[in-house]
Parts: sequence; structure tokens; C-alpha cells
Amino acid sequence: MNFQWYPGHMTKAKRQMQEDIKLIDLVVEIVDARIPLSSRNPDIDELGKNKYRLILMNKADLADKKVTDQWSNFFKEKGYFVVSLDARSKNGMKSISDIIMEACKEKIERDLKRGIKNRPVRAMVVGIPNVGKSTFINSYAGKACAKTGNKPGVTKGKQWIRLNKNVELLDTPGILWPKFEDQMVGLRLALIGSIKDEILNTDELAIELIKLLKTSYPGVLAERYDIEEVEDNVQLLCEIARSRNCLSKGNELDYSKAAILLIDDFRSGKLGKLSLEFPPEA
Ligand code: G4P
Repeated sequence: MNFQWYPGHMTKAKRQMQEDIKLIDLVVEIVDARIPLSSRNPDIDELGKNKYRLILMNKADLADKKVTDQWSNFFKEKGYFVVSLDARSKNGMKSISDIIMEACKEKIERDLKRGIKNRPVRAMVVGIPNVGKSTFINSYAGKACAKTGNKPGVTKGKQWIRLNKNVELLDTPGILWPKFEDQMVGLRLALIGSIKDEILNTDELAIELIKLLKTSYPGVLAERYDIEEVEDNVQLLCEIARSRNCLSKGNELDYSKAAILLIDDFRSGKLGKLSLEFPPEA
């Protein structure tokens, strides 16, 4: 399958991000816990060099916990601070404030040595579309947080959300563009719903999902749809159509309907907590 998506407007977004990054101490990069590498754009490493770095593996409620923990170690070994979360719940938000402080410890100590007290750490959220940037900002900032802005030393028009006395967050996230020179990366992004379905062939997508699940999570499809995981993937999709009574007008099996059903079940977590990408073996 060929994914084509040329994000022309990203040049502007990138320029904006280069400007915004100058104002902050810490980059909070959000990735999708089900595909932590495929859902990040590695260009952020260049854009955010010399900044403290925190990776939030979001939608952890949909991912395989064991695999998420492996990814967490993978990123920690590379020097990032890492938290996995469900941005829709407000749980764990306090621990994020703490980890932001820990990530910026060096700067806070340096400020103190210079006699600068109470200068908040400034952070900015970045990530590709649909990973949960707005959800995170809303949950994290909550209603109680006052917006600050147009203060001396702050670029006019920039809005900062004061999270607590120690942390300020830029209220507009930086949008990164998905990068998929590798077709597998494109496929994973399509499966989690990060590429518009209209430009995809959902039948093929479902077949690819079946292949991935049969390899990484054998038995999951059999259990959910009460079918046999036969070797032929097209036949397997027909089995799902039969099991779920996906019929076309002429009462024939409609395997396109089954494809959409399968993809939706995966995306909404009905197939269970499943990851589609695994860290390289150490
Ligand atoms: P973005 O700013 O990065 O583009 O993403 P946004 O916050 O708009 O979130 C994209 C979708 O992901 C939203 O669903 C949101 O509810 C969902 N989402 C965000 N964080 C999490 C999470 O931790 N777990 C799960 N399961 N979902 C999450 P939507 O279908 O677009 O909207 P809606 O369902 O909220 O109406």
C-alpha cells in the first residue's frame, strides 16, 4: 500500500516551532503509546537540541502495558524523561509536574546559584496530529489555571498557562508532521487513525492489521470474533464478516464492512490493549 501525504503547511508550522522553542526550557513530546517510534518525528531532536526533553507516551490505556514499559526503558536509556498516560483522565498529572521539575533540575539549580528564585520552568507540547496534545493541555491545565501572557519579556500574543508556581506551558502545541519514508511507519499511523481514512484502502489496511495481530497477538481475533485464525488473511476477513453478519444488499458477505468493523474495534480498544510496534531487542 502506498501512503502519500504531503504536508505543505508544515513548513510554516516548523518555522513557528523554531521560534517558540527559543522561549522554552523543556520540550514535552507526545507520542502514541501503541506506536511510540512511528508516531514521532525524529526532526524534533534537532529542533529541540539543548532543551530538556520529556516524552509522554499517551493513549497508554489502549497499549499493551508490558510493551509500553519496554518502550519506557528504551527512551530512558537514550536520556529522555518518560511518562506513560491516558491524557483524558486527570490522574497522574501531579507526577508530571514533579517529573518536569526533575527534568529541569539543572536549570533550577543554576538559577538558584545566580540568585534567581521563582522563575518558572517553561514548557511546550509538541507532537504529530491526533496523539492527544489538546486533550493533554486541557486535562493538565484544568480550569483553575490562569492564563498569563503579554508580560514583559514574553513575545506579544503568546499565551502561557500557569500550571503551578513552578511551571508554565505554552498554550498552543507545536504540530509535527508524521514522517513515513518507511511504508511500515505509514501503515502503523494509518492503523491508529492518524491518516485520513478517505485516502486509504481500508480493505488492504484490515488485511495488514490481521497479519500484524496474528504474528504479535495470536488468538486475539479468534477470541473476539469466535472464528478460526486461518492462514489465508482474506478468508479470515470473510470469517469475521460471517461472524458479525456483515452483509451487502444482495445478502452476500460484505468484507469491506468487516474491514471497517475490525479497524474500528482495534482503534477503540475492543480487541484489547495492543501495541503495534516493539522496541528493538537490546
Ligand atoms: P491532537 O491535539 O494531538 O491532535 O489530539 P487530540 O487532543 O485532539 O486527541 C485526538 C483524539 O484522541 C481525541 O479523540 C481524544 O479524545 C483522544 N485521546 C486523547 N488522549 C487519549 C488517551 O490517552 N487515550 C485515549 N483512548 N484517547 C485519547 P476524538 O475521537 O478525536 O474525539 P473525542 O472522542 O474526544 O470526541
